[in-house]
Amino acid sequence: MYSLETISQLAKRRGFIWPSAELYGGMSGFWDWGPLGLKLKEHIKREWRRQISRREDVYEIETALITKQDILAASGHLKHFTDPMVGCVKCHHKFREDELDEKKCPDCSGTLEADRPFNLMFKTHVGAKEDSSAETYLRPETAQGIFTNFKNVIDALHPKLPFGISQIGHSFRNEITPRNFLYRSREFQQAELEWFASPEEADMWFQFWREERMRWYLDLGMSPNNIRFFDYPRTELAHYSTATTDLQYRFGLSVDGFSELEGIANRTDFDLKAHTEGSGTELMGETENATKVVPYVIEPSMGVDRATLAFLMDAYTEDELGGEKRVVLKLHPRLAPMTAAVFPLLKNKPQLVEKARSVYTSLRESIDDIAWDDIGNIGKRYRRQDEVGTPWCMTIDFQTLEDDTVTVRERDTGEQIRVGISQLETYIRKGLGV
Ligand code: GAP
Repeated sequence: MYSLETISQLAKRRGFIWPSAELYGGMSGFWDWGPLGLKLKEHIKREWRRQISRREDVYEIETALITKQDILAASGHLKHFTDPMVGCVKCHHKFREDELDEKKCPDCSGTLEADRPFNLMFKTHVGAKEDSSAETYLRPETAQGIFTNFKNVIDALHPKLPFGISQIGHSFRNEITPRNFLYRSREFQQAELEWFASPEEADMWFQFWREERMRWYLDLGMSPNNIRFFDYPRTELAHYSTATTDLQYRFGLSVDGFSELEGIANRTDFDLKAHTEGSGTELMGETENATKVVPYVIEPSMGVDRATLAFLMDAYTEDELGGEKRVVLKLHPRLAPMTAAVFPLLKNKPQLVEKARSVYTSLRESIDDIAWDDIGNIGKRYRRQDEVGTPWCMTIDFQTLEDDTVTVRERDTGEQIRVGISQLETYIRKGLGV
């Protein structure tokens, strides 16, 4: 495995991810997404939607980021969404107590003393008044917007149990110690499914989603050696959960290397009951045979940024091809930021450039994320595309002018074949598996 440092350097250099506000000294826990990182992240979300939101029994919604205090009081976040904090008496830096190996300050070795439990939510005010009645919060998870719209979905679309409501969007947590690149940040995206099922079927659906989510990572090429299930022992479950499993990835941040990538929980009827009580509105679902119940909730909750980091780490490879060292991102073709790159063999031969331009333009009409590259020699262009994970490079050369075929070079093996221009779209679609 390569270090987070290596991955973050590549990410910065090649326009994937930059530290936010770097021009002004940076802002810990916030990241800006460059063109290639944004594409990779969007492709991860697209694949998540292909598994989840595309189902006919799942309804994707998008809810407000700013959350009313009453919602977070009912959900328990106002009281309980805290981390234990300690402070150094000497340098006054604050730390998460549960993340420290030793009982002294990691920055100056000073003595640590217990501080108040720290609520992780960002507070803000809505409207002109800044008193406590105007206090609101940036949402700490996308899930609450789903629970508070559960009845709206039922009233508008009349789904019967089981069914799901999904949401992808930003969440905010004022982490005491954001660190490890994208692993723990203060603003990140989540992709969450709340799957509502009758209580008798909840265990079965928990198993179903646990397996489905693992299959999703493996189908997208994640190495089986780097991802595993971690089932929480009963004694460590949240009070409302009867089963929770983490999908852990080998981020290399813990003693055995594995830490949480995504959580899958059976949240029972806790959330809907809490919001029934908080709002005074009954939140119930109906089974096919018209029985009314408060459904149980099975929740697969993926951190989009954390998944992006895991896919980057998994794909990053340093190897040798044709006797030359190279860095290559062996991303699944559907995740790669650019699907293919088109090159004219020589930049100073107008016939080649013109032909290449026409191949490029027509491919872009049918397939997303086609790149153009004419800088430097072909070898350099291959290296550049390898480094950002482009699965196929297509070179328009002198033979193209004679027989309308191009050289297609495959990223992982370096193998080159000739493909007819009229066949390029089919060739790429086959490689993408769509
Ligand atoms: N609705 C359930 C929930 O939010 P969570 O375990 O707190 O559960 C789910 O968060 C996922 O969100 C985590 O598995 C992780 O991938 C991601 N996540 C949580 N906090 C994060 C942070 N500070 N930075 C990046 N990702 C985070």
